[in-house]
Amino acid sequence: MKVVFYSFTGNVRRFLKRTELEDIYEITEANASEKISEPFILVTGTIGFGEVPAPVEQFLAENSTWIQGVAASGNRNWGNNFAKAGVTISQTYDVPLLMKFELHGTLKDTLEFKEKVVNFDESYGREALQSY
Ligand SMILES: Cc1cc2nc3c(=O)[nH]c(=O)nc-3n(C[C@H](O)[C@H](O)[C@H](O)COP(=O)(O)O)c2cc1C
Repeated sequence: MKVVFYSFTGNVRRFLKRTELEDIYEITEANASEKISEPFILVTGTIGFGEVPAPVEQFLAENSTWIQGVAASGNRNWGNNFAKAGVTISQTYDVPLLMKFELHGTLKDTLEFKEKVVNFDESYGREALQSY
């Protein structure tokens, strides 16, 4: 499944590079309003006080029908607001919060995320088949 991400300081970009997943799309200020018309898992950092970054909100305004799950980066120093962008997106769009990780994540986080994306592909395929 496609992984769509936004990274304002480079942590999420670095995290995803380590997964070696290939179908990756980066949201930028320039393309945030484009439609991608295929299912995706979103990965984003958290900004402000537990906020979803503005380009991600802009992207979801156009593409929310296709979101399947979300993972979020943050910093535990932010206490209750740690990686809260993921919680907000999960609740707003009623999709699973796959994981929260700190900064660019550990190797364990990378492997966990990769496994979840692969498992997601398998179960998504089954659901698609079952609907026929
Ligand atoms: C201005 C600013 C505000 C932030 N606010 C939060 C926050 O509320 N909660 C949190 O968990 N992390 C917060 N962070 C930390 C980032 O979410 C974290 O560094 C994340 O890894 C950034 O991902 P990125 O580099 O891919 O954009 C903030 C960082 C900055 C620079």
